[in-house]
Amino acid sequence: MFERTPMIAGNWKMNLRPAEAVKLIETISLGTGDVEGVDILVAPPFTHLGIVRQAIGNSGIFLAGQNMHWEASGAYTGEISGRMLQDATCTHVILGHSERRELFKETDEMVNLKVKAASFLGLIPIVCVGETLAQREAGHTFDVLKEQLNQSLENFRLDQRMPTSTILAYEPVWAIGTGLTATPDEAQDVHHFIREWVETVFNSGTATQVRILYGGSVKPGNVSDLMSQPDIDGALVGGASLKGDSFVDIIRFQG
Ligand code: PGA
Repeated sequence: MFERTPMIAGNWKMNLRPAEAVKLIETISLGTGDVEGVDILVAPPFTHLGIVRQAIGNSGIFLAGQNMHWEASGAYTGEISGRMLQDATCTHVILGHSERRELFKETDEMVNLKVKAASFLGLIPIVCVGETLAQREAGHTFDVLKEQLNQSLENFRLDQRMPTSTILAYEPVWAIGTGLTATPDEAQDVHHFIREWVETVFNSGTATQVRILYGGSVKPGNVSDLMSQPDIDGALVGGASLKGDSFVDIIRFQG
């Protein structure tokens, strides 16, 4: 039995046409109807949220945005607010993904504003942190993560409270879309470090309840080993979440 309900989340990034999105949801629902005790989540591109919600029907798959702005409304061309995600029936939002940080220059401070805005609305943030290859090779992994956690979750630190529904995701940048995966032991070390950070900054109850997902080239062949680690509570899957069969196999990691 898992202490925390495992979550398998698919981050579709900027992929799939509407018909493909609907087909993918159909494959996931059909292939996982009998799976119990695993939360399934998809994060489609914004323009597909409506049709994906329709396709989800009552299958219980959670719907997430891939990003949001921290302001409620206003002159922010090209942006979308948390409330808009909720209007599109999202319950979760991915924040601080390394592609947002690297390609779109999102800082920890911006991530923190987004986390704050999402939690104000009751939208559950999936907050991503992770080191680059250079940082890992220089032995700075834990320092980098601590800094990202301290700053990206500053609002919770100031409140001295983090909702236990908050989801953290460890995504080593060098493992995203590269086919390289952290070994289960490497990932476990970092997940354990993150859980200890939660315990130190908040308390042991929060640390026990908060889910920490692993992301970075998760596929059917490596998911079981990763999920067998005590501090890995799920997976945030990019590439392998775009193919129905492989995503279903990942959701069925328990065999
Ligand atoms: P990947 O992406 O599974 O394609 O490596 C993971 C992610 O970016 O969340």
